Amino acid sequence: MTYIVGDNCIGCKYTDCVEVCPVDCFYEGETMLVIHPDECIDCGVCEPECPADAIRPDTEPGTEEWVELNRKYAELWPVIITQKDPLPEADERDGEQDKLEKYFSEEPGEGG
Ligand code: SF4
Ligand code: F3S
Repeated sequence: MTYIVGDNCIGCKYTDCVEVCPVDCFYEGETMLVIHPDECIDCGVCEPECPADAIRPDTEPGTEEWVELNRKYAELWPVIITQKDPLPEADERDGEQDKLEKYFSEEPGEGG
């Protein structure tokens, strides 16, 4: 199994999650982070750290498409291991529906 970053990260990107990952398997896009499913060791420590409650185990229903999205972009985006400021609109967007359609970007983030 693996953990994945899901819809509610998009447009928020709080980045609290990256500080606790023991294997540094978060990757940064312009508007969200993803987890590399092959590098995640399923420790679960990142899940409660996310203020947006965006991290889920892939054993939950409906996560299949997110595993594939996380895998695809983890191969394309830079690793991020240091917490940074969230996106400016993070608090307003937290909890919005359909964020994949509204805010997702294929562009990489800066990483770091
Ligand atoms: Fe990293 Fe553990 Fe979260 Fe996987 S579950 S992304 S290994 S902190
Ligand atoms: Fe995203 Fe939550 Fe991490 S909003 S960047 S998964 S702390």
